Amino acid sequence: MTVFEAYNDIKRQLEAAKIEDFVFEAKQIIKHITGFSNAEIIMNAGKELTEFQENNLIAILKQRSIRYPLQYILGEWGFYGGTYKVGPGVLIPRADTETLIDTALEFLKGCEKANVLDLCTGSGCIAISIAREKKSAKVTAVEKYEEALRYARENAKINETDNVEFILGDIFEGAANDKKYDLIVSNPPYIPPSEMGITSPEVAFEPETALLGGEDGLDFYRAIAENYKQALSENGMLAFEVGINEDEKVKEILKTSGFENIQKIKDAAGIYRVVFGTVKKV
Ligand SMILES: C[S@@+](CC[C@H](N)C(=O)[O-])C[C@H]1O[C@@H](n2cnc3c(N)ncnc32)[C@H](O)[C@@H]1O
Repeated sequence: MTVFEAYNDIKRQLEAAKIEDFVFEAKQIIKHITGFSNAEIIMNAGKELTEFQENNLIAILKQRSIRYPLQYILGEWGFYGGTYKVGPGVLIPRADTETLIDTALEFLKGCEKANVLDLCTGSGCIAISIAREKKSAKVTAVEKYEEALRYARENAKINETDNVEFILGDIFEGAANDKKYDLIVSNPPYIPPSEMGITSPEVAFEPETALLGGEDGLDFYRAIAENYKQALSENGMLAFEVGINEDEKVKEILKTSGFENIQKIKDAAGIYRVVFGTVKKV
């Protein structure tokens, strides 16, 4: 089978598996199995795949046709200009989350040597993106599960950041809240169990511990607002990523916990994705 034939075959099989972005994914898979760049794929379109590459392709298509995530198959994914290792046990960085990075960087403009805390860090994509863009910042990142934290530590190396400190800890126990931070960010688990059935089939392969946010999906927001308010320095900001239609409820949680200047921001798809507030001046 030639590279061109394989590309067409992948497209056909992915379309049959009802994968929306089957053209984009077919290209990613061809690049992955051949190691070719976009230009090399065209130059080598008539080249035969090796036996190893064909076998690899069969295995990949089997996985993808049951909607095992492409990102886990490829083993890495891009986020905010960086590359992140991902696999079972860690949430795949989402483009939606880039809105939280933009919000954080806007807040940190002109703020040198800021102390930043990222709660529920997972792959480390938020902490590492902020650290890469704001080299003078000192970022602390908290994660409950060692499996996820291993990815985060490796991702910090891949993305050449040495200004992130990773801490294994539980936000419900106030991990790392004994210091003062200028900015606290978090994309916590926020899906209510009742909505798990309506997520895409790929989500079923991601860890539930990274997805489920308690009965109404809001447990982490309540706990973080309460347990970390006193860890913000004067005029410090707490910024959350929120799930669809959670924006007003999270605004209310921040208000109840004594935050002010509470605002919300839409993502590129026009969905309210970030809610933030500052602590009242004493
Ligand atoms: C929605 S994922 C976000 C991962 C990453 N920050 C991102 O934006 O892609 C939530 C993360 O919180 C972690 N987590 C779950 N419960 C936690 C807890 N009690 N304390 C700290 N981290 C927790 C999960 O393991 C998961 O990595």
